[in-house]
Amino acid sequence: MSLSANGRAGRDMREVSDDAVVIDGCPRVDDDAASGGHTRRNDRASADDRSLPNDCAWRDAGSRMNRRGEPLSGGEQPLRHCAPRAIVAQRDDHRVMGDVPERRNRSEHVDAEHGGSEKAWRIVDESNGHCVGARLMRALQNVGDHGSLSSGTDDDDSPPARNTRFSRHLRYRTATVIPLSSPDIDEEDFRLVNDVLRSRYLASGPMAEQFEKEVAGRFGARHAVAVSSGTAALHLAIIAAGVSDCDFVITSPYSFVASANAILYERGIPVFVDIDPETLTIHPQKTIEALRDLAQWRSGWRGLLPRSARNASGVLRAVLPVHLFGCPADIREVVDAAREAGIAVIEDACEAIGASSHGVYAGRWGDAAALGFYPNKQITTGEGGMLLTDHEGWAELFRSLRNQGRSHDSERLEYDRLGFNYRIDEMSAALGLAQFRRIDELLLKRKAVADRYTALLSRVDGVTPLLDPPAGRTRTWFLYAIRLAPEIDRDAVMRGLATHGIMTRPYFWPIHLQPYYAKRFGFVEGDFPAAEAAGRAMLSLPMSPNLSDDEIEFVCAAVTEQVSAHAAW
Ligand SMILES: Cc1ncc(COP(=O)(O)O)c(C=O)c1O
Repeated sequence: MSLSANGRAGRDMREVSDDAVVIDGCPRVDDDAASGGHTRRNDRASADDRSLPNDCAWRDAGSRMNRRGEPLSGGEQPLRHCAPRAIVAQRDDHRVMGDVPERRNRSEHVDAEHGGSEKAWRIVDESNGHCVGARLMRALQNVGDHGSLSSGTDDDDSPPARNTRFSRHLRYRTATVIPLSSPDIDEEDFRLVNDVLRSRYLASGPMAEQFEKEVAGRFGARHAVAVSSGTAALHLAIIAAGVSDCDFVITSPYSFVASANAILYERGIPVFVDIDPETLTIHPQKTIEALRDLAQWRSGWRGLLPRSARNASGVLRAVLPVHLFGCPADIREVVDAAREAGIAVIEDACEAIGASSHGVYAGRWGDAAALGFYPNKQITTGEGGMLLTDHEGWAELFRSLRNQGRSHDSERLEYDRLGFNYRIDEMSAALGLAQFRRIDELLLKRKAVADRYTALLSRVDGVTPLLDPPAGRTRTWFLYAIRLAPEIDRDAVMRGLATHGIMTRPYFWPIHLQPYYAKRFGFVEGDFPAAEAAGRAMLSLPMSPNLSDDEIEFVCAAVTEQVSAHAAW
């Protein structure tokens, strides 16, 4: 019997030979048997009590809809939403810049890093009287006066950052610390959250529904399902794609670890494909090659698997591209190849809400997408995330899974499947709704900050700001990252910036070299050279919608100073 990855509709066809060994919970099989198809499964999802309903669109291409809401005819593209004319308006747009001077005069009390660090610091943002030089002087004068602030929050888990934190300690001895990020919270945000508190209706309810409705409307998605985090959104999408023991999911090694962790939660195996060094997103042609190799078991396909999983008996279930640093990955042809192979496309759009590629929003190309609302993101709910999908069956599954597996609208508290508590609460949803209603303003403010940084840093030797995405793609700004030339000692630069009260992070250390992944899967340096080069060179600088020109200039002056002090040329 010959199986292909798109032969999913049948029952579980796994036949693991008696002498198969099991490592890491994965049945291992010998290559000959596997390539003959005897040890492969063609559908495990249908046997899983969490499996998706039968009307899932990827199982039945005919059920996908065109723009008129009719079933697709041959060769017709599925429903996609076109980006609006202008996602990003001009910097001088009064709606955006109008209240900036007023904000500058205001004292803002922020956490040292968007609420995550041990110690909160008061940021006093003076518009008058303190030029960059004065702030730098004051920062230097204050060294030693205010103790230190150790770096690091939950999303900062690169070995270099840990070394820095535990053995060398970034020291912020200044009166003020410019945090890596700080959300823009306005009166309407407070008002909606207060409304929820006054209502005493705190668990997921009408605010969450309204938030979902407005996000779905803006992005032209049939369904938006709010959840408790971007990671939860990715996890549920992985389940909907039918990923189970030792199934393969193609993804990028250069991302926040959550995008690969979601695959592991379902005991799947991440198959990393290196990135395009320009955009830092998964390389489209290499992805298509890998996808076809794995889907068709072309010669050498096992070489794509992580070393310790080369005998695994799974099938390719999905491709999970990550739209990184607000830059959409180019996945147009990847989506077509995935459709041909009958596998799902899950977009990680946690860092790229509002970005678009060829008139389509990030998160609207695939079968489902995860949005993330952590406080460093373009809009925030505190903790929170959302799934976008056009598939009725997937949306139903997501709603059930986020609520302990409860049947939809079940009055009798019936639970159809094993689920989770991934619900979003009403306070978070209210904040998200208020933020989402001014997303254009927030994106514009971020763009203004990024443009100012780029103008100042483009002239600095050894520093390359993130490039504009290639034609047809529009970035929205998440963190502001720069690439340092190999001759520059990045750790020393970070330490130097910390003494000026500037928080930075070496985002991202590639996932395959994270200790857990390297140990579990046998990855070594050299496996994904472009991701590793980016991992060594990239540095994220403070990025917040309300970062003042003075602060940006202060950071750029300090970067210039530190880079020239720590370059070996
Ligand atoms: C690329 C990417 N994927 C997934 C996530 C996970 O989102 P969350 O932190 O909301 O779980 C993040 C968030 O930080 C991210 O940057």
